[in-house]
Amino acid sequence: MPKRVVLAYSGGLDTSVAVRWLMEEMGVEVIAVAVDVGQGGDFEAIRQRALAAGAAEAVVVDAKQEYARDFVVPALRANAKYEGKYPLVSALSRPLIVKHLVAAARQHGADAVSHGCTGKGNDQVRFEVSTRALAPDLEVIAPVRTWGLTREQSIEYAQQHGIPITVTKKSPYSIDQNLWGRTIECGILEDPWAQPPEEVFELTTPTASDPVEVVIRFEQGVPVALDDKPLPLDQLIGEVTRIVGGYGWGRLDMVENRRVGIKSREVYECPGSLALLMAHADLEDLTLERDLAHEKSRLEPRYAELVYDGLWYSPLKQALDAFVEKSQEFVTGEVRLRCEMPGRCFVAGRRSEVGLYDYSLATYEAADAFRHADADGFVRLWGLGVETWAARQARRNP
Ligand code: ARG
Repeated sequence: MPKRVVLAYSGGLDTSVAVRWLMEEMGVEVIAVAVDVGQGGDFEAIRQRALAAGAAEAVVVDAKQEYARDFVVPALRANAKYEGKYPLVSALSRPLIVKHLVAAARQHGADAVSHGCTGKGNDQVRFEVSTRALAPDLEVIAPVRTWGLTREQSIEYAQQHGIPITVTKKSPYSIDQNLWGRTIECGILEDPWAQPPEEVFELTTPTASDPVEVVIRFEQGVPVALDDKPLPLDQLIGEVTRIVGGYGWGRLDMVENRRVGIKSREVYECPGSLALLMAHADLEDLTLERDLAHEKSRLEPRYAELVYDGLWYSPLKQALDAFVEKSQEFVTGEVRLRCEMPGRCFVAGRRSEVGLYDYSLATYEAADAFRHADADGFVRLWGLGVETWAARQARRNP
């Protein structure tokens, strides 16, 4: 039986109740760890709430830069979107949170980690598979999956135990947020036919009026500057999110296949990530050699699946990272994004000092460098097999 448990603490109802539940039902000491991945909120208040709920220790980790550098960057370089659409917001943050849970477990001599996920979602998979990958010796406890309390019962439990919670007729939606975007589930959204009400959106409320252009500079597939201003990546993502979101662009409404076999209706707001992914992929079109580009695009959906399925720390994911990193050697240059009302954001131009676009080859103007005579033999040989086949058909059916 575990004695000391490190709990991934969000400050919400479930994880607050989990602190006390772990103490009462499992007889363990709880170390609460809140990881800041850019979700916003008052982390000192969150820390105090964990202590008030009964945690022996409450720690806040500012992991925004680490998240951007070690989790967002590989996913961006891999153009990773699950089912071709979802930029993996929640899926990307869980392996990082687990990394910090495990570190805290080592530091505090804990023998288990715990999370507040339900049994229906993907996040339990990501928490647990990541924990087993990093620390096979640690036990995992999933109170919410075990206790079977309804929301009302959880509120009651909190009140009975004097756990401070802030659930005043709160929204029916389940939200997860970090630097890479915001996910919205539950309530009316569980009806896939119902259009998401405007109230669910926070990052993509249209407020802009005039068009705007922003130039994003990439170096080896990493965004490093906006309009010539170098920025740390977490801030750069925040800026792009703010600018593009102001045009109401970056919403997704999709029915998605969860790892646990459930189809679910998901609403996402990802103005920053989707804009950066669009710009990055566009710069690759300019800078990647054809075969490399084609092979990479075949591997990208696989990469996204692995991340979605909780296999961030798997050997295949690591091997794909090596491929993707090598592919980014020349993904350097600038992409000009233009935003216009209502709800438009697009690539207006791109340039690179190491691009493969060669005007003298591509132009239809007279004085070009292309050797037209070479095309003659090339095309003849290219089609030789088909020509031979067609000639035989003609002989057999005159
Ligand atoms: N369906 C998304 C995913 O699996 C969003 C999950 C949101 N998680 C949450 N705890 N609210 O990545």
